Amino acid sequence: GTIRLADYTPYPFTLERVTLRVRLAPRATRVSARLELAPQVDGAALVLDGEMLHLISVAIDGAPLGPNDYRVTPTGLTIHPAALPEGPFSLETDVEIAPEANTALEGLYMSNGMYCTQCEAEGFRKITYYPDRPDVMAPFRVRIEGDLPVLLSNGNPVASGPGWAEWDDPWPKPAYLFALVAGDLVAHSDSFTTQSGREVALNIYVRPGDEDRCAFAMEALKRSMRWDETEYGREYDLDLFNIVAVDDFNMGAMENKGLNIFNSKWVLASPETATDKDYERIEAIIAHEYFHNWTGNRITCRDWFQLCLKEGLTVFRDQCFTADLRLGPVKRIEDVMTLRARQFREDQGPLAHPPRPDHYKEINNFYTATVYEKGAELVGMLKRLVGDEGYRKALDLYFARHDGQACTIEDWLAVFEEATGRDLAQFKHWYTDAGTPRVTVSEDWADGRYTLTFEQSTPPTPGQPKKPPRHIPITVGLLSPNGEEIVSSTVLELTKTRESFTFEGLGAKPVASILRDFSAPVVLDRKVSTTERAFLLTHDTDPFNRWEAGRMLARECLMARATAGTAEPGYLEALGPVLADDDADPAFRALCLSLPGEDEIAQALFDAGQTPDPDAIHEARETLAKDLARAHEDRLAALYDAMAVPGPYQPDAGPAGQRSLRLAALGLLSRLDGGARAEALFASAHNMTESLGALSSLIAQGRAEAALATFRARWQGDRLVMDKWFMTQLALCPPETAPDLARKLADDPLFDWKNPNRFRALMGGLAANHAGFHRRDGAGYRFYADWLIRLDPVNPQTAARLSTAFETWRRLDPARQALARAALERILGQEGLSRDLAEMTGRLLGID
Ligand code: ARG
Ligand code: ZN
Repeated sequence: GTIRLADYTPYPFTLERVTLRVRLAPRATRVSARLELAPQVDGAALVLDGEMLHLISVAIDGAPLGPNDYRVTPTGLTIHPAALPEGPFSLETDVEIAPEANTALEGLYMSNGMYCTQCEAEGFRKITYYPDRPDVMAPFRVRIEGDLPVLLSNGNPVASGPGWAEWDDPWPKPAYLFALVAGDLVAHSDSFTTQSGREVALNIYVRPGDEDRCAFAMEALKRSMRWDETEYGREYDLDLFNIVAVDDFNMGAMENKGLNIFNSKWVLASPETATDKDYERIEAIIAHEYFHNWTGNRITCRDWFQLCLKEGLTVFRDQCFTADLRLGPVKRIEDVMTLRARQFREDQGPLAHPPRPDHYKEINNFYTATVYEKGAELVGMLKRLVGDEGYRKALDLYFARHDGQACTIEDWLAVFEEATGRDLAQFKHWYTDAGTPRVTVSEDWADGRYTLTFEQSTPPTPGQPKKPPRHIPITVGLLSPNGEEIVSSTVLELTKTRESFTFEGLGAKPVASILRDFSAPVVLDRKVSTTERAFLLTHDTDPFNRWEAGRMLARECLMARATAGTAEPGYLEALGPVLADDDADPAFRALCLSLPGEDEIAQALFDAGQTPDPDAIHEARETLAKDLARAHEDRLAALYDAMAVPGPYQPDAGPAGQRSLRLAALGLLSRLDGGARAEALFASAHNMTESLGALSSLIAQGRAEAALATFRARWQGDRLVMDKWFMTQLALCPPETAPDLARKLADDPLFDWKNPNRFRALMGGLAANHAGFHRRDGAGYRFYADWLIRLDPVNPQTAARLSTAFETWRRLDPARQALARAALERILGQEGLSRDLAEMTGRLLGID
């Protein structure tokens, strides 16, 4: 059935306290739960969620219930009102579960002999009968029994002995934040003193052998704790903070109270095995989960429709953290690249939904780029609109007013309105309406007056045909014709469908820099000459727009080449000054050298009313890269040499930026030198960044056979590194070979398809190979669908997540559309398809 926001009603009982006793055994774990409840509504039945549970006993206030007192269904346990006391009472249940058989990795499951949990969003109901909804919060006391050296749960340890441990979490929390871990683990330990002097013990638990890969994550954790104190005044609130790394995990990480659980990919790092990008991601994810302690845990969501309340805000916070610690402008550009590649794509296809959806069938399908990344953009826009001080006041009020509560987007907007006096009624559409607004701009110059006229419209999305105008902050700066900034960044607030803004008293017609810092998640539509873009690429004082000017030149050039085949020389020339600008950060210059992806070009062509041809797009991008290399060969060769980083590896932004520029140069030069430099680098590299960078260049040139074999031989015992091996060769190989390579790799004994990271590496690699996935004969679609069908009964969440590879099928030619549709219909036709994958396939096909 469909769950609707409009149907929300409060739970008719309060839950005062939860006591759990968990006796671990792989096939028969016994969970005894005692819930102390108090009725709030007369005559209400007690409805508890529960799935895959074997009920052994149920009692109220110590007295076992008779068979007519309750009813058990596949989704829960209902106790009749007549069997309930009038006042507060305790409910005791005993259930048995089988963690070893839990391949869905939701609830309590096993990974490499270790027990662990994942409860968000609705996994706790697979552990015990419970009101599994985020607005029911309670303190937990947990006793774990099991013959394993490490037994962990949330909160503080209170007692332990051989084979048992007890934990107490004093902070009331919803069940989705519950966690339990048990295994043969070792800790990398440290400590942190909070600003008020609380000593916090910190541990990162990993499998024996991995303990020397934890140091970086630990430093990142301490930086996060400090940052939240200085930037938000938020202090940690327990004596202990534990992190556990798990190999089998459906997502990145989880913010369980005092016991964060991480996909090992986002904790473990050593120079030999992790790239610069991995280091940066690890730092960001550690921060993200830590920041949830306040934005998510202390203040949580009333219901799952409000997911972006915690996720959008927490992503925004982790983005600011990385921007502060590393290079702010570079981070902003990277975040916009991700937003466009994932969220714009989502918004423009059949899966489009608002950051706060109003209905769903399976909530796990709504942990999306729209909820997370667009959710973060909305927080950023609010901050732009109210200013830094207003933002701080609003957040202080949010924490003061809502600590300990389960809140809504309305609560969130109300603190901004009250703290700053602004009316956010129109702004709220950003939360409730799907789709990416298009903003077109025209300019007018007369008598020293420069006028910018904006028009906005948002295309229809599923279920939302008409959209009212949005409240859009557009940051604008004006440059004089000789490149001086004559009007510094100003936020214009567009609220109407069409609106003009005039700048007076200018001596000469200025050059406008519009949507600086990407001040709103919109598509800016503006005819700009190549000369003006080249001017901005050289002179704009806003780094984002400087990069954007080059990006738009590259995009227009690729669009032209992929259709009419006309070469556009302006782009190649315009890059010259940036490449020569040794004052610009290497990381920034590397971003200027990276061409838009094939998927982005396909979407841009589709938006321009054309049918994108994946093969032509691939060809256009390849030839442009080669032309770029030819046009700047000497400079690129000089950069390749100059950007070599001497000395031992450091993951910091400085050396990482140099490596990224060096590898960007290498990727281009490899198209001219036959892979000679890449081979030399591959042979001599001492860190994964350069090793994988060199390997990538070789793969793209079709010269990687030997290197891939060497790499496999060296790293076959390392799961995380082997994921890169699977992923990279598929993503970068010549597209016509991709589906066949995927088939071959799926037969590799190292393709452990039940491990989500490995499955994602292979399928994600194929999907990232745009022309390969969309191969004309449909081989990519067939292979992909075969595997989704196979994975679905084992792990529906991951199968559903990966089905998004199909979200662009509607923009293709009729022949490809027919093949994609056939693949999707074949999936939907499977008997016993999960709710997860059924909902996704239905939406992808638009029959929902
Ligand atoms: N709350 C977690 C995070 O943002 C992610 C949980 C994802 N859960 C899910 N069912 N997909 O870090
Ligand atoms: Zn999160």
